[in-house]
Amino acid sequence: MALPPIRPAPVFPPPAGAPALPSPAGAPRRDPQHYHRPGTLALPAPPPLAVYVHLPWCLRKCPYCDFNSHAVARGDAAIPEARYLQALRADLEAALPLVWGRTVHSVFIGGGTPSLFSPEGIHSLVSDLRMLLPLAPDAEITMEANPGTFERDRFRAFAQAGVTRLSIGVQSFDDDHLRAIGRVHDRAQALAAAEEAARSFATFNLDLMYALPGQTPAQLDADLDQAFALAPPHLSLYHLTLEPNTAFARQPPALPDDDAASDMLDRLVERTGAAGYERYEVSAYARPGHRCRHNLNYWGFGDYLGLGAGAHGKLSFAHRVVRQVRWREPQAYMDHALAGQAVSNEEEVSRKALPFEFMLNALRLRDGFALALFGERCGLPPSVLEPGLAAAQARGLLERTGAPGAERVRPTARGFDFLSDLQSLFL
Ligand SMILES: C[S@@+](CC[C@H](N)C(=O)[O-])C[C@H]1O[C@@H](n2cnc3c(N)ncnc32)[C@H](O)[C@@H]1O
Ligand code: SF4
Repeated sequence: MALPPIRPAPVFPPPAGAPALPSPAGAPRRDPQHYHRPGTLALPAPPPLAVYVHLPWCLRKCPYCDFNSHAVARGDAAIPEARYLQALRADLEAALPLVWGRTVHSVFIGGGTPSLFSPEGIHSLVSDLRMLLPLAPDAEITMEANPGTFERDRFRAFAQAGVTRLSIGVQSFDDDHLRAIGRVHDRAQALAAAEEAARSFATFNLDLMYALPGQTPAQLDADLDQAFALAPPHLSLYHLTLEPNTAFARQPPALPDDDAASDMLDRLVERTGAAGYERYEVSAYARPGHRCRHNLNYWGFGDYLGLGAGAHGKLSFAHRVVRQVRWREPQAYMDHALAGQAVSNEEEVSRKALPFEFMLNALRLRDGFALALFGERCGLPPSVLEPGLAAAQARGLLERTGAPGAERVRPTARGFDFLSDLQSLFL
């Protein structure tokens, strides 16, 4: 899934002179040298770079979803595909000076429902990325897809267009639960989509949610049995949460209580382990060799260029780390991107905020991280983490291993269960 929605506020002053289009947040086009001026951080080298591309349309808005997704009528004509692709290309061209010469290791085409785009459209997007950016020869290119019939027929063509990994939003294999959470597809379509993904892609992921309205432990077991029978190399298992400003937040369904949800999590951790999946991150479970490289880059506090409506990006320079957000409404995004102003908000991450932002990501990894990574990604001495590390260790939330200079930090089982308490010690 797309990560992590830390919404930046604008900190730079508005540009001198009137912008060509209204830019209330004040994120002007800048001379690339602006990002390279002296500052208080000292990054030894740029982090690995990934690209996230947001395609913001869905057939219908799901009642639990707070992603930047907009309902369209069924069919291609309702999505302004050609104009959106032009806007993405203009967005990418304007961003190139910020990532000059850096190899891209992974691309994630997320949404929304990217599988509503035509295979020709996805081919043109992947070709633009390949032509304008140095993509690693083995770059992982993931695309999100929904299980509808019409999308499934295109899976093979998406693989031929250059997509290497498909991520399918199944959510459940139970028709009653699929109806209860407002999905447009049923169990039969979910099965057919997973089978087609297995035929067309060397690796793929299934998204499932648990603690669904009225879900019993036996029904969760049935969903897991079905998932294992399809043998996906990767599973993303999310606790259904009530997000503000969604239909479910306004009219909440009856959900399993916290204790029941926690028992469900214990059950699925145990069962995925027994089925050969390693839980390598809070919600991510993989067979050996199938961890998602793109998401690992987020959790390792790598860089990512975010293209498309509402996309978030994080880019590092020798003396600063910058977060960007693109215009959120698809129409406004296209207008601005085509005028060379895709970015609506931009902020430099403060020295003070960096330790928490780093830990928010890195502590999600079950194996933790090498302490030296903090200095590489944040340009600060690892000693700034000491007070938080000591407090977390004293509470049994974190363990440290390895000799000085090669030290590793990882959450304990208890720290992993109480992750937000652990992360907040670095605030
Ligand atoms: C951006 S969605 C994209 C996938 C695709 N649009 C779909 O829904 O099938 C990524 C995943 O986030 C998960 N998700 C979305 N909203 C959620 C919520 N409120 N609680 C838990 N998981 C959620 C779903 O499993 C979904 O497949
Ligand atoms: S299909 Fe996916 S992105 Fe679209 S509304 Fe539903 S959960 Fe959100």
